[in-house]
Amino acid sequence: MTFRFVDFPAVDGDLRADVLAGLAAQPKAIPPKYFYDEAGCRLFEAICAQPEYALCRTEHALMQARLPEIAAAIGAVDCVIEPGAGDCVKVRALLDALHPGQLVVLDIAGAPLAAAAERIADDYPSVAVTALGMDFIYKLEAAAPYLTTDQRLVYYPGSSIGNFAPSDAAALLARFRQLAGESGQLLIGFDLKKDPVQLHHAYNDAAGVTAAFNLNLLARLNRELEADFDLSQFRHYAFYNPAAGRIEMHLVSLIEQSVNVAGQRFHFNLGEALHTENAYKFRSDEFSAIAASANWRLIRGWEGDGFAVQLYG
Ligand code: AVJ
Repeated sequence: MTFRFVDFPAVDGDLRADVLAGLAAQPKAIPPKYFYDEAGCRLFEAICAQPEYALCRTEHALMQARLPEIAAAIGAVDCVIEPGAGDCVKVRALLDALHPGQLVVLDIAGAPLAAAAERIADDYPSVAVTALGMDFIYKLEAAAPYLTTDQRLVYYPGSSIGNFAPSDAAALLARFRQLAGESGQLLIGFDLKKDPVQLHHAYNDAAGVTAAFNLNLLARLNRELEADFDLSQFRHYAFYNPAAGRIEMHLVSLIEQSVNVAGQRFHFNLGEALHTENAYKFRSDEFSAIAASANWRLIRGWEGDGFAVQLYG
């Protein structure tokens, strides 16, 4: 087996700098990529098992059902690249169908990524696996020297693209284009616009797992930035904003309070919100227009149960 792991230390945007800037901003906001510490990764997996949150199951079913067609549409691929690969479970189906020589996985959570990628290397001896522990939002371009082969496919599943506002999504897709090259392809999965009440329930599950996921961000800051958030004084608040076409997740302060984070003091008014995530929902044509602005041409799309997978070249 061939496996290598390279860890890129955070410089321009690390947890501390981003959190301090986000808490000083008006309105207060912290980027959703910081949900995913070890506990956050486990809570996200638990969200995917909730009856109200169909996104992961629907994408999986669609990929299973259409994999032969998807693989045929893609054709020959040497190198599969997955930004934000996490536990590297989703990409296994593509490895089975496409038999690339190389897999390059990127994730901000380096240690769990390395472990998952090494298991892939064990299970797929013909695939050279490279795991890059990096925040690809800052460092995507640093992956280029690790791509040794032509005919690249960027795989970006799970509606992760929904975390970006349309203009930021277009900018990220343009960087994917640079990395993939002119002959490269993009296979991307995203959640479709649907019944807003259904969307509301998906982010307000009855078991409270999404609430725990959202609040874990504060627990993480308590653990890693010597913060003193009282989790019982913040409320998970998520809703679908149809005008913006997105779910918004917030943590709303239930009282007027001050919180210490990394030696700095921040004030929350009663009812003040800390914005923790946007999850944009798209129509297929709407998404293709965003991708087109990033120089991606739609080859084919597949849809089922409110989720879409599109292939671009
Ligand atoms: C991983 C970004 C696709 O937006 O649905 C799930 C994250 N947040 N529940 C999403 C999430 C709350 C998820 N993505």
